[in-house]
Amino acid sequence: MKITSAEFVMSNSNVINAPKDRIPEYAFIGRSNVGKSSLINMLMERKDLAKISGKPGKTQLINHFKINDSWFLVDLPGYGYAKVSKKKRQIFQYFIENYFKEREQLVCTFVLIDSRHDPQKIDLEFMRFLGENQLPFCIVFTKADKLGSSKLNKQITSYKKKLLNHWESLPTSFITSSSTGMGRDEFLNFIDDVNED
Ligand code: GTP
Ligand code: MG
Repeated sequence: MKITSAEFVMSNSNVINAPKDRIPEYAFIGRSNVGKSSLINMLMERKDLAKISGKPGKTQLINHFKINDSWFLVDLPGYGYAKVSKKKRQIFQYFIENYFKEREQLVCTFVLIDSRHDPQKIDLEFMRFLGENQLPFCIVFTKADKLGSSKLNKQITSYKKKLLNHWESLPTSFITSSSTGMGRDEFLNFIDDVNED
């Protein structure tokens, strides 16, 4: 898919205020600092469409971007960031959960996982939450440039194997790097195919 336009639409802390357009929507979720905002910029070939930071907790709202005038990408705050106060974390959790439960346009959620990490409880719990709510998701391994290719393959094979202790089958997955552009074509082709169905 060729990206002809990518525009920021709005930020919200409550899904009821999100754009009303009935067009396909794709959400990016994962631990703080896993690279959600960077991946959106890489896919759109834009440096600062989504705000990124070396410090976890940068994205704090539900951010809608309209792509090619025909579908939405949504950048969400990360979960599992210990330094955010407990009260703030609960508010986050509430509005993120609500987003997933209420957003009928949502077609697929991309759960981002740092390629270097083994399965973490919080990610497994989040995938279970999606499953329980019948929400389709894919796994996106990020920051692939941080590992050599043999280590990367080994780590991802091992991650998938461990996931099979929790799920009967594996979701579609992508291996990406926002630094090198790895995985961009596969990712955009996937969205193209889903949009056409
Ligand atoms: P929050 O909004 O805080 O939840 O974080 P996020 O998941 O949106 O992460 P963000 O895109 O802000 O990136 C976090 C840090 O990781 C930044 O310093 C990025 O430059 C870095 N980063 C993201 N993706 C990659 C990647 O593919 N490769 C490398 N080497 N660094 C990356
Ligand atoms: Mg972010």
